[in-house]
Amino acid sequence: MCGIVGYTGDAPAAKLLLDGLSRLEYRGYDSAGLCLLNQDFSTVKTVGKVRNLAEKVRDCQVDGLVGIAHTRWATHGAPLEKNAHPHLDDGGRVAVVHNGIIENYMALRSRLEKRGHKFISDTDSEVIPHLIAEFYDDDPVQAVAAALRQLTGTYGVCVLFRDLPGLMIAARSGSPVIVGLGQGSNMAASDVTALITHTRNVIYLNDGELAVITPEKVELRTLANVPIEREISRITWDPDTIGKGGYEHFMIKEIFEQPEALANTIRGRVLPDDGSAKLSGLNMTPREMAMINRIVIPGCGSSLHSGLIGEYYFEDIAGIPAEVEQAAEFRYRNPIIEPNTLVLPISQSGETADTLAAVREAIHKGAVVAAISNVVGSTIARECGRGVYLHAGPEISVASTKAFTCQVAALLLMSLLFGRSRRLSGEDGREIGAEIARLPELVQSVLDEFPTIERIAKKYAAFNDFFFIGRGCLYPVALEGALKLKEVSYVHAEGYHAAELKHGPMSLLGDRVPVIALANRIPGQEKLLGNIEECLARRSPVIAVVSGEDANVAKYTSDIIRVPASSRYAAPITTVVALQIFAYCFARERKCDIDQPRNLAKSVTVE
Ligand code: G6P
Repeated sequence: MCGIVGYTGDAPAAKLLLDGLSRLEYRGYDSAGLCLLNQDFSTVKTVGKVRNLAEKVRDCQVDGLVGIAHTRWATHGAPLEKNAHPHLDDGGRVAVVHNGIIENYMALRSRLEKRGHKFISDTDSEVIPHLIAEFYDDDPVQAVAAALRQLTGTYGVCVLFRDLPGLMIAARSGSPVIVGLGQGSNMAASDVTALITHTRNVIYLNDGELAVITPEKVELRTLANVPIEREISRITWDPDTIGKGGYEHFMIKEIFEQPEALANTIRGRVLPDDGSAKLSGLNMTPREMAMINRIVIPGCGSSLHSGLIGEYYFEDIAGIPAEVEQAAEFRYRNPIIEPNTLVLPISQSGETADTLAAVREAIHKGAVVAAISNVVGSTIARECGRGVYLHAGPEISVASTKAFTCQVAALLLMSLLFGRSRRLSGEDGREIGAEIARLPELVQSVLDEFPTIERIAKKYAAFNDFFFIGRGCLYPVALEGALKLKEVSYVHAEGYHAAELKHGPMSLLGDRVPVIALANRIPGQEKLLGNIEECLARRSPVIAVVSGEDANVAKYTSDIIRVPASSRYAAPITTVVALQIFAYCFARERKCDIDQPRNLAKSVTVE
């Protein structure tokens, strides 16, 4: 799971490639490399981040008008220089960067070794240049297509040939590749963020397609060499939005962007008079919506947690049974999909391999499938063909923040819309619509609490174990709060339903194990107060998140984080923002690498 970028044109490629790579680091950042083509290939590799590679490239003083580059998240072989990409065949004729996993690489490698090929890395990817070289006679496109046909697994690749300066071939199957069209130069990359400073005109490759790219033109073909026509898409968002904009980290920038991001998710979608919502991308008539009698929500990580909040919304507001499925399980447990089941995958990136596999299984089983995604044109969004885009803007920090709250807002909008096609009254719908419209302002009030949350995070910065507890729709928020803390600060944090503590985890409580209790005024709050008492009785310090001026909780603890009073529908959003700030301040105090935590990656395109 990695980021790839390639360039062929009339400008020195190294800077463009390094710039593109630095925007792809969210896909992995344990090692990096690039290969430039002049008379011969010049390859530079490093362990660590793209900035290490940039220094090494500067020291080596290499450049060229054509090149490919890679930032890696190790799957096969440790993050060592020898395993970093680009990989070359042993004759040095073909160079390849690869994102994905070649499942049959062992069989291919031993076959190639028997034919005399020498391998130097432990990766699955290295078989690709060897295979291409094996098939290469005088037709590079046929050689790439023939090699790719041998592969089982997933790939996004860029390929260069030593003897064919100016030519780059890109191809995809299961891992994203986008071609960027410039003037006298063209690029390819795993994500538009790597292309956006160079061009706004792009072509999205589909699985089983390859692009033959020279500085002057781009031709698309299938692996069977059938030419393809594809419309050019125009990227409309502003490249400035992917800078840090004066913030110390992307995570805190993205936390503070939430009022605006939520406003973008909501804009034009609430119908205040009808007490309903409008989601044109769903492309469903009220009758079709009324027919849906079950919703299945696959997702991973934070998207799984937003789905769990959606489950409450769909059942409470729309009266539709909903269940959330860890996307990796979906296709292996033979899910029951009936004609009126709506499958609603949630994925910020729209590229997560497990969620994509769930989408394909659901389509295969004849479900109505609609995606909630942030990345326009992402694979999941395109394969579903319908859904709700978040419009939250690019999320760069590995830990998801604004995409999470916007997913929850999108789920609330959807529940309102489905509710109005069924049992929800206009009056109740108008109330929920008004609450949705208020979300940006509610979140702004939580951001205003930053100094208090920061003080509490600093106070607890030396603790190494935390529990997060909640009930009702705040139970998934407890899971998400714990996930945020462990992702960015590497401390042990567990999210639990408050009622579950006494079924085992309570044995771990004590004065070194703080409990973060989500004690907002929502149905079930009285019971949660009882759970706080249970924690205090085991000497655990308690940090409480409460709504507004609620004085009930103040008698238990002085570590109180106040979020504005709201309905139970807005409470998950306001509460999670407080926990995001807590995790951020805690990790900053412990001097962790917040935007790129160890061992993680933003977009997980492996199973
Ligand atoms: C990775 C990220 C998480 C994210 C998850 C699902 O693990 O680090 O922040 O929630 O993938 O990503 P998706 O793009 O499908 O929402």
